[in-house]
Amino acid sequence: MQKGYKMQEIIKAVQDIAIKISEVLKYGDLGYATSSNATGDTQLKLDILSDEIIENRLKELKCVNSIISEEKESPLSIDKDGEYIIAYDPLDGSSLVDVNFAVGSIFGIYKGALDAKNLVAAIYTVYGPRVEMVVCEDKPELFRLDRAGEFKFIKTLQLKEKGKLNATGGTQKGWSDSHRSMIKSLFDDGYRLRYSGAMVSDLHQVLLKGGGLFSYPATPDAPNGKLRLAFEVLPFAYIYEKAGGATTNGVNSSLLDIKIEQTHQTTPCYFGSKFEIDRVRNG
Ligand code: AHG
Ligand code: MN
Ligand code: MN
Repeated sequence: MQKGYKMQEIIKAVQDIAIKISEVLKYGDLGYATSSNATGDTQLKLDILSDEIIENRLKELKCVNSIISEEKESPLSIDKDGEYIIAYDPLDGSSLVDVNFAVGSIFGIYKGALDAKNLVAAIYTVYGPRVEMVVCEDKPELFRLDRAGEFKFIKTLQLKEKGKLNATGGTQKGWSDSHRSMIKSLFDDGYRLRYSGAMVSDLHQVLLKGGGLFSYPATPDAPNGKLRLAFEVLPFAYIYEKAGGATTNGVNSSLLDIKIEQTHQTTPCYFGSKFEIDRVRNG
């Protein structure tokens, strides 16, 4: 589908952002800042720098009404005549930069009010040995940064009906019996464990390898899960469902049914191919 020019402007901005963030990740200070964010996480200097890079670039766009960031307490207005709200996680998996794992950025693009039903696109970037970007309006499309600094289209991504990977998050000693037995049943069926601790990289792996399950359940230490709805969970739910997969919070028929009541609200979440999500819902 031909993209509208405003969406093209947003995609170009995210490309510029990805190049800048990948540079600061390579050579920037890996230390902690003295502040913490709305969730109570101690911020890295790189979290703050990535947030600034994104804010400064998105501020140039007339079509952006406001931005919502993991690293900002409240939404920030950009242009009152703009129609898009962009909710983002500037640096996902940032606690893994010290061990040199792949991390990423996540963007949910909402047209009108901040509601899952208004998501019109989702984008994520991956900073690994290569810089990649998945852009999804109708279908998720993979792009990779080349030597000349251009993002080249690689392929459209599609999940199979059933996969082979099991990416299981959350503190295991707090798992419910039903969650524990569902995870065990997948391993008993031959699924292989894949989990780095950066949802961008873990979900990227499951998506590119054709399917499986990524889960982050509710546990006593995180009764509503850990992952945040507006800028982590919903953008990936949008991408997984457009890729032919499915999502749930454990009981509902889609993560996209959840209402955003607070900017930093969290939810238990499951993303995968249809077969595994049916297994989650039906036990
Ligand atoms: P962030 O770095 O943006 O705070 O996000 C970290 C998230 C997510 O990427 C990952 O799936 C999850 O935290 C990992 O949590 P555990 O260490 O509890 O598995
Ligand atoms: Mn994150
Ligand atoms: Mn983050």
